[in-house]
Amino acid sequence: MKHLIDPTDLSKQELDEIISLAQDIIANRERYSKVLEGRKLATLFYEPSTRTRLSFTAAMMELGGNVLGFSDAANSSVSKGETVEDTVRVVGCFADIIAMRHNLEGAPLVASAVSPVPIVNAGDGSHSHPTQTLTDLLTITREIGHIDGITIGFCGDLRFGRTVHSLIKALSRYKNVKVILIAPDELRLPDYIKQDVCDRQGIDYREVSTIEEVISQLDVLYMTRVQKERFLDEDEFDRVKDSFVLDASKMRLAKRSMAVLHPLPRVNEILPEVDIDPRAAYFRQVENGKFVRMALIYSLLRWKDDRGHAMPEHPECFEDPSMRCPNGKCISNHESVPAMFRRTDSGTVRCAYCDAKIKENS
Ligand code: CP
Repeated sequence: MKHLIDPTDLSKQELDEIISLAQDIIANRERYSKVLEGRKLATLFYEPSTRTRLSFTAAMMELGGNVLGFSDAANSSVSKGETVEDTVRVVGCFADIIAMRHNLEGAPLVASAVSPVPIVNAGDGSHSHPTQTLTDLLTITREIGHIDGITIGFCGDLRFGRTVHSLIKALSRYKNVKVILIAPDELRLPDYIKQDVCDRQGIDYREVSTIEEVISQLDVLYMTRVQKERFLDEDEFDRVKDSFVLDASKMRLAKRSMAVLHPLPRVNEILPEVDIDPRAAYFRQVENGKFVRMALIYSLLRWKDDRGHAMPEHPECFEDPSMRCPNGKCISNHESVPAMFRRTDSGTVRCAYCDAKIKENS
C-alpha cells in the first residue's frame, strides 16, 4: 500500500503519472465525476487550514466520493488523550483513505505504520507538506511548460517553511534545476536540506539576501511568509523585512515569463498591486491544488493492492531506545512510538520522524 508522507515516497515515474493525470482531469472533468462513487475520504486536521482541507474535500466530491472527519481535534476523542495510532485505526474502519494535518512532526508517519488505508500527510509541523509540493509541481508545469532546467528562487522563511523543504526535495528528482535561496540570516534553509538533499542530489544552489539582485534570472519566484515572531530582535526584523516583500517595482525587473508562486496564506509579503500582474500565479496555484489532489486520491486508491506501488524501503533506519530526539515538536516526544533514527550518507544520525539532528558523523 502506498502512503504519501514525504515527497520522496513517490518515485519520479509516480510523480509524473500524478501530474499527467491531474492535467487529464482538468481537460476531461466529466469523465472523472463518478470514478470514486461510494468511496470515503477522512480529513483529520489537528491544525488550522483553509486551502488544504477544503481542496481535499472538493477533490473527493468532484470524483463522486464522500468526505468525513474533523477540522478541530478538540472536538474529537483526541481531547480525551486518544493517540494518533488509535485514531487512525478507528477512522480506517470508516474511510478508504485519510488526509492528516498535525502540529507534531512525524505524526503522519506514525499513522502510516498502523493504518489499514492510505495516509496522506497534509502538513506536519515545520517538517513536510507533500501535497502542496504536488500543487507546486503542477503549477510550474502549467505556467512554465516544464520543470527540468528551471531556475527557482525561494524567498522568505526557508527555515520553518515546510512547503519549501518539500518542494526542494521533489525538485531534486528533476534535471538541471537551479535553486536560489533568498532569506534573512535567521531564516536560512536548514542544514539537513542543504546537505542531504542539495549536496547529495547535486542541486546547484546559492544564498543571497535580496530579491532585486536575482529576480531577473528567475523562471519561478516562490514567496513565503516572513513572520515577526521568528526574530529574536525586533529591530533586525524591521531592518530586513522590506527586502522580502514583492511589489510592482521589483516585478519590473523580472522576466515576462516568470511565474510568482506562494503556498498562501500571505500576510504582506506580496503587495496586492502584484495580484493583477499576469505572472501572479498564486490563485491559479490554489485551484491546481484541487486537481492534483483529485489525481493523488484516485491514484492511491487504485494503487492500494498493487505491489508495484509499495512504499520505498529505508535500510538506513534503525531503532535505538538509548537515544532521544531533541525536537519538542516531534511526535516521538509526545506519544509512545519506537525510537527510530536514520544515518545519512555523511554519517549524521537524524530522527526518522522529524529529521532533527541527533549526532554528527559517528
Ligand atoms: N497552503 C496551505 O497549506 O494552506 P492552508 O494552511 O490554508 O491549508
